[in-house]
Amino acid sequence: MARLKVGVPISGRGSNMAALAEACADSAFPAEIVLVLSNEPGAAGLDRARDFGIETAVIDHRGFAGRAAFDAAVTARLEQAGVELICLAGFMRLFTAGFVEHWRNRLLNIHPSLLPAFRGLNTHERALAAGVRLHGCTVHFVRPELDDGPIVMQAAVPVQPDDTAESLADRVLAQEHRIYPAALRLVAEGAVTVEGERVVYPNGWKNEGRSIDPSLR
Ligand code: GRF
Repeated sequence: MARLKVGVPISGRGSNMAALAEACADSAFPAEIVLVLSNEPGAAGLDRARDFGIETAVIDHRGFAGRAAFDAAVTARLEQAGVELICLAGFMRLFTAGFVEHWRNRLLNIHPSLLPAFRGLNTHERALAAGVRLHGCTVHFVRPELDDGPIVMQAAVPVQPDDTAESLADRVLAQEHRIYPAALRLVAEGAVTVEGERVVYPNGWKNEGRSIDPSLR
């Protein structure tokens, strides 16, 4: 069976990209990463991608007059590599609505909160400030609004009384690395469709196990 060709835009350390690459290293996994693309020439994740033997590209946003021109260059490079699905992994640039529509339902993101709570940056600080007892992460299809779109998978983690933003971020990141490959598998297998801006599972996938940090059970 042909594997779904995935492109992974990053801007930084690339730990989620590495989690996806590890899953894809198994030839039985239904997706493969054909390109890791960074807008930051010095992103540490580029080296990690090369260590996996994955092709990399740098498209520095500073070299473009505006967002539309940058986004067009990103699309052209991804399509040149044959990308069928994009998995954003710590990519710190907002895309234009035109880009998002071009890749509609072929564009995933991972966000470090239980959406729709805490869209945007500094999610762990804000979760602590709000006093939530459960925090977590979300894999979702991207829509033009920031951190909006149909939810594929979430994982919850407990917030402990002595948590700092760093300790909470570490606990959430461990779950990001579990659910992003799991969500990619479902999407690549065609087990996911979007109906009325909600993800549905036509083949009856059950929401067990992966959505909860095992330490909660
Ligand atoms: C992760 O927390 C992810 O949820 C967010 O950006 C961070 C990227 O980390 N979108 P990494 O580069 O994958 O290590």
